[in-house]
Amino acid sequence: MKEVIKLTNIIDAHVHLRTIADKRMPLCTPHTAKFVSGMLPMPNTNPHIYTSEDARKYRQEIELVLKHFELLGTVDIFPTIYLTPQTNVNDLVAGYLAGDVFSCKQYPRGATTNSAEGVSGIKEMFPIYQVMEKYGIPLHVHCEMPMDVDVDIFDSEKFAIQEMLIPILDNFPNLKVSMEHITTKKAAELVSSGRYPNLVATVTPQHLLYDRNKMLRGGLDSNLYCMPILKRKEHMEAIRNAVKNDERGVFLCGTDSAPHFKTDKNECGCAGVYSAPVFVEAYVKAFMEMNVLEKLQAFMSDNFCKFYGYTVPEAMQKTVVVEQVEPWKVPDVYDGIVPLFHGEELTLRARVQ
Ligand code: DOR
Ligand code: ZN
Repeated sequence: MKEVIKLTNIIDAHVHLRTIADKRMPLCTPHTAKFVSGMLPMPNTNPHIYTSEDARKYRQEIELVLKHFELLGTVDIFPTIYLTPQTNVNDLVAGYLAGDVFSCKQYPRGATTNSAEGVSGIKEMFPIYQVMEKYGIPLHVHCEMPMDVDVDIFDSEKFAIQEMLIPILDNFPNLKVSMEHITTKKAAELVSSGRYPNLVATVTPQHLLYDRNKMLRGGLDSNLYCMPILKRKEHMEAIRNAVKNDERGVFLCGTDSAPHFKTDKNECGCAGVYSAPVFVEAYVKAFMEMNVLEKLQAFMSDNFCKFYGYTVPEAMQKTVVVEQVEPWKVPDVYDGIVPLFHGEELTLRARVQ
């Protein structure tokens, strides 16, 4: 077994852990928690995480699961709340100052899983952004157009950059903004340009590894269907290029691992790629293909710490070793959920040192 890389203090800055009630949290949380020092769980759970009290309870729920798997205290949790025009800023600030809330996530209304209560226009959000900017509360943006806007699904991110993201950045220059799961050349270039010093982006493994052909050719692979949807090859290449040449440390690991039971995928083709069981291997594979393994540590951890001014507590520090191994087959399904690379052979394997 040959060591390929050692990674310290991985942080997944965008992951869907779901809930105990919907049964998925205990199935998928350990896959992520085992390897990371920190995780930022998304608030589009059922019910959603709207208030600081919801965030506090959601953290406790995650901690219960971590305890069950003897991982409690080994992973930091960054609770984020689901932003709506009704978000109570007093509650938000109190929750932030108390450490119950780390940040806010903005969904475009109706554009993805559990986003019906999201934001349809940004003007009505300005008073909330203003408070967030004042207190240093970060904003994560799912940058697509709300569903009531007539736009092609493949162009939605591009339009939302122009109509939603840029006006936010222009009006709130001190607001810390993370554009989530970028998928287009326009996004990659905007983030790397440095035009907005407080803008970073998360990048999923699937958007680094694949273009839309992988999902559509030779039969539709709904396991690769996610929002924002995979785009043309030129976009994947632009994202690779930006990540490869990232000198400012503005691209962050955010898997967007989004588990849906196979039965639900079959029935409604719901959006989400379940990458948690293989996310370390997936990023290593992508960075090896890009020939920039030396950039992976910054992407997986250091860029997050720098942008958010975060230091990994000692108890949560972890080293993950990725090795070249004999081919092993990724299971077709984990607990009823089909993972990224299902049924494929991998020659990389991650383990905690
Ligand atoms: O593909 C996606 N799945 N995109 C999202 O924005 C939500 C996520 C989910 O919750 O399943
Ligand atoms: Zn997501």
